[in-house]
Amino acid sequence: MKKFLYGIDFGTTNSALSIFDEEKQEILTTILIPSLIYFPNQVSSDGTLNYVVGETAISSYLSDGMDGRFIKSIKQILSKSSFTETRIQNKRYTASNLVALILKELKSRADEIIGFDCKKAIIGRPVFFDDDSSQQDVLAQTRLSKAAELSGFTEVRFQFEPIGAAFAYEKTLIKKENVLVADLGGGTTDFTYLVLDPEKVGSSNRTDDLMATGGIYIGGDSFDSAFMWEKGTPYFGKHTQYEATPGKVLTVPKSLFANICTWDKMNFFNGLRIKKDIENYYYFSGNDPQFKNLITLIDNNLAYSVFQSIEETKIGLSKKDVTPFSYANMGIAIQEDITIDQYNEIIHKDIQKISTYLDEFMEKNNIRADEIDSLFLTGGTSLVRAIQHLFKRKFPNVKVNTGDNFTSVSKGLAYSSYLFDN
Ligand SMILES: Nc1ncnc2c1ncn2[C@@H]1O[C@H](COP(=O)(O)OP(=O)(O)OP(=O)(O)O)[C@@H](O)[C@H]1O
Ligand SMILES: [Mg+2]
Repeated sequence: MKKFLYGIDFGTTNSALSIFDEEKQEILTTILIPSLIYFPNQVSSDGTLNYVVGETAISSYLSDGMDGRFIKSIKQILSKSSFTETRIQNKRYTASNLVALILKELKSRADEIIGFDCKKAIIGRPVFFDDDSSQQDVLAQTRLSKAAELSGFTEVRFQFEPIGAAFAYEKTLIKKENVLVADLGGGTTDFTYLVLDPEKVGSSNRTDDLMATGGIYIGGDSFDSAFMWEKGTPYFGKHTQYEATPGKVLTVPKSLFANICTWDKMNFFNGLRIKKDIENYYYFSGNDPQFKNLITLIDNNLAYSVFQSIEETKIGLSKKDVTPFSYANMGIAIQEDITIDQYNEIIHKDIQKISTYLDEFMEKNNIRADEIDSLFLTGGTSLVRAIQHLFKRKFPNVKVNTGDNFTSVSKGLAYSSYLFDN
């Protein structure tokens, strides 16, 4: 019987699975899906809850008028001990249950291709799941491991995502090199510094080649949140004024708007008390039309579609100097040109944090810029121009290589089959 294993990159935004043929020692194919789950409100005729995973999760959610539960960035809840479970139509879902839905989807598509139930997987993990504590890190990996088990995998190994990316790059090399790999994703930015040698691809022990790994909890999602805060929230009433007491005019609390900047805070608005507060601000603002947009956003679950427009603007600015930020839905009308300079200013703080972290990483691990032979940048966020400039500025004399931004991690995980050797 043929032998296969799967390299699985469960990402904040996208997840990929590479099918590795263990006999031929090569990748058969790679499957890539967005890490999204949609639970429509209607229950299917046999009473079971139906759900949709991947690309069709977006289309179904939008065509159902954004009704039902739409779940994105699930990876970010893996490390949150405050998250225990969520109820979806009277069924309880733990973090592992939700992640398993993504893993199962990938597994079943891959099993279909190879024609049998493959139980062996190398699953990627960021260097740090969370900035806060090692306890949360352990929790996240335990939950991921449980999700793999629930998806039908019985033989599982974990590998750091940036090492996966490095091994994919190693396949393209013709000589030995000292390489700094940066994998910039939706949730995290991970680094690894290692010796890559095309003669060692897939070989058993690479511990001696691995010189340093590190990471920081900043990625493309952080840029989108910063953009929402600066450019989005004014359209939703960040500057709205209301009459607090007769004759005393105040601006509505800014803290309200922090909750529409990150996905996991959106459910803040579900509380009855906050709903009442929002009604009051609206009334005492004299029905401010911008503040009404906030109510429309909350009542109709429009956050995902607004964030889609924000992402489109970001992607546009990766190539062009000016890109529109536009959104038109249910009376909300946003139309504004954003220049690359404005965008760079908005994400400046995050870029600075990545820069400072990288300096510390180099210093702590005694890495000198002049000993690095090449840089390998991967992950969707490596396409952001400010990120590319950051690396050019820091390493002016080092050649920069890029690979397949969305699949290099899963491919390299599949090339890590040596992890099963002992
Ligand atoms: N052309 C582009 N320009 C800028 N950003 C982009 C582009 N294409 C995708 N992105 C961003 O890249 C991110 C997704 O990248 P990727 O798929 O590598 O992340 P991930 O693996 O899901 O996340 P993580 O590794 O952090 O768990 C998103 O924030 C997305 O908006
Ligand atoms: Mg990734």
